[in-house]
Amino acid sequence: MPIRSLTAIVAPVFLAAVYLTTASAVPHAQETTENPFTTNLDVRMGQRVFRQQCGRCHGRDGAGGELGPDLTDGFQNASTDAGLFSIVREGLPNTQMIGINRNATDQSVWMVVSYLNSLNDTANVDLPGDATSGMQVFNGKGNCTNCHMVSGEGGRRGPELTRVGSRRDPDELLSALMTPDEDVAPRWWTVRVTREDGSVIEGLRMNEDTFSLRLMDEQEDLWSFSKGRIRSYERIETSIMSSVDGVLTASEVDDLIAYLFSLRREES
Ligand code: HEC
Ligand code: HEC
Repeated sequence: MPIRSLTAIVAPVFLAAVYLTTASAVPHAQETTENPFTTNLDVRMGQRVFRQQCGRCHGRDGAGGELGPDLTDGFQNASTDAGLFSIVREGLPNTQMIGINRNATDQSVWMVVSYLNSLNDTANVDLPGDATSGMQVFNGKGNCTNCHMVSGEGGRRGPELTRVGSRRDPDELLSALMTPDEDVAPRWWTVRVTREDGSVIEGLRMNEDTFSLRLMDEQEDLWSFSKGRIRSYERIETSIMSSVDGVLTASEVDDLIAYLFSLRREES
């Protein structure tokens, strides 16, 4: 009880202090309305800042998370770069949106703005492949629907791909297909559990804490284990997806990329 009332008194004071400091640290942020940092390198730097500071709420790739909305489908609160700048810099009052670290330079704020714009860039890139053939490979020969869902159809052992074209550009899609083991997010790690009777269960790691483990096996069945009651377990940080390299022809891969990249929200 005493602790709680202390927090209640301290919190508003603290917030007020943050607000004042932020406001005076960037008195004329909106004076520059044109983003000076828009090269590909700037976008990548912005992406890096984003992953460090924003990903926990908005998702690593800005497609939305439990705490923050999808940022790949336009912005409700800003229509210009300057507007985005001030949201990223100052956050949105009375919401969980807290904005960037107070010590961030204007340059890194602009880089984040460039990155946010890149997430919404639906410019039609000229791709060699054919999206309709790509869809056939996806649903047929590629067996991609075993693990991936598009518009409600398919498996759950891999990320949902309904709008993958909004969060991945063609180059990133190509690496996802050719080198799936690179850069696997913990959400897609596998665990192999050896039970006390010696039997082995393997599957995607759904949940793990000090005492328990939850996994989803190949049949999409869920298993829970208490760590004290299994013989051992092993975490595997590679992807369960295998590379298409050597499995599909180069033109099938091009077609798949054209299809995947076409999976975006319509421009409104
Ligand atoms: C603690 C969670 C949290 C963090 C961290 C966070 N945000 Fe947000 N953000 C939110 C929430 C919640 C909203 C929605 C606020 C509302 O409108 O109710 C939001 C809204 C936004 C919006 C406006 C979206 C729109 O449609 O207008 C932008 C842009 C944005 N965030 C970018 C960022 C960036 C860039 C960072 C990192 C520098 C970041 N956010 C960090 C939670 C967060
Ligand atoms: C055995 C299950 C499985 C199969 C089959 C499979 N994938 Fe995957 N896929 C995954 C998992 C798990 C991930 C996430 C881990 C990673 O990055 O590899 C993934 C990641 C991806 C990504 C990156 C998604 C993102 O959000 O970045 C793409 C694109 C993709 N797969 C496309 C395909 C295509 C196209 C096929 C068919 C040729 C395919 N996958 C077959 C399991 C699978």
